[in-house]
Amino acid sequence: MNSGLFSQDSGLLTLQSPAKINLFLRILGKRSDGYHELASLFQAIDLCDTIEMCFANHDRFTCTDPNLPLDSSNLVQKAIQLFRKKTGLSAPLQVHLIKRIPKEAGLGGGSSNAATILWGLNQLQGNPASLQELISWASEVGSDVPFFLSEGTAYCTGRGEKIRFLPPLPEQTLWIVKPPRGLATKQIYETLQVRQLENRDPEKILKGFLAGNYGYINDLEIPAFSLWPGLSQIKQRLKDAGFDQVIMTGSGSALYCIGPGKVSLESFPEFFLQKVSFCNRSSGYWYGLPKSP
Ligand code: C5P
Repeated sequence: MNSGLFSQDSGLLTLQSPAKINLFLRILGKRSDGYHELASLFQAIDLCDTIEMCFANHDRFTCTDPNLPLDSSNLVQKAIQLFRKKTGLSAPLQVHLIKRIPKEAGLGGGSSNAATILWGLNQLQGNPASLQELISWASEVGSDVPFFLSEGTAYCTGRGEKIRFLPPLPEQTLWIVKPPRGLATKQIYETLQVRQLENRDPEKILKGFLAGNYGYINDLEIPAFSLWPGLSQIKQRLKDAGFDQVIMTGSGSALYCIGPGKVSLESFPEFFLQKVSFCNRSSGYWYGLPKSP
């Protein structure tokens, strides 16, 4: 396995950590363990955090976002602890996280960081674990973490951790629009009423996507809009701005917008707005460098 930028002198490994969107997300039911059974087409996008890591004299975890908790609740810390438990690694580590992916957005930033750490530590250690092992460890860190070890396009089922690798979809440019207010995943799932959902077969939606028939849908919009009706109004404003499709990603609050519409900070002050493209990695390699902002 190969990836990223590695400096022989400093022993520093620099890896990109991409965000994701859900091209469709269907909730199929509630499970006895409290999680929800889902079926979703995940796609990585070229909005990336950057993670620098190296062995050092003592453990140190720093981040450019002063508001991000860096304690054991952070998925980066969870991934490091898990990798240590699985492999017996004990050497101290320095990790620096350059944050660009907004949080509480449904863009999978924390899950992506955890997957990137698992990949990076495995690489720094000479690849003791296979990709399949990393994917199975990733599911212990969080439901969305295994996806980020796919090659960028995957159909995910179970609580999100069962992944079917798919070939890259045709190139697509879209806007990510994230309002200043975020949404908490747990609260969205707690608000969801499974019996309110449409009964559309996810395998059929998937087949449609693979044949170029894009049936965008996100079942989590229903609980998100009932918790925060303002988000539904933002979706309508974006449709009025000329986009053909405006869909919430994951548990929100970010929306992705496809089509010829226009957004600006004048009309959406204090929002996070970024034009992005789909991104995929080659087998055996990690994701490439991000485009300059
Ligand atoms: O697995 P993860 O820690 O990312 O999930 C966060 C929360 O989201 C869970 O505690 C659960 O309440 C909810 N969840 C769910 N069904 C899923 C994924 C997450 O109910 N498939």
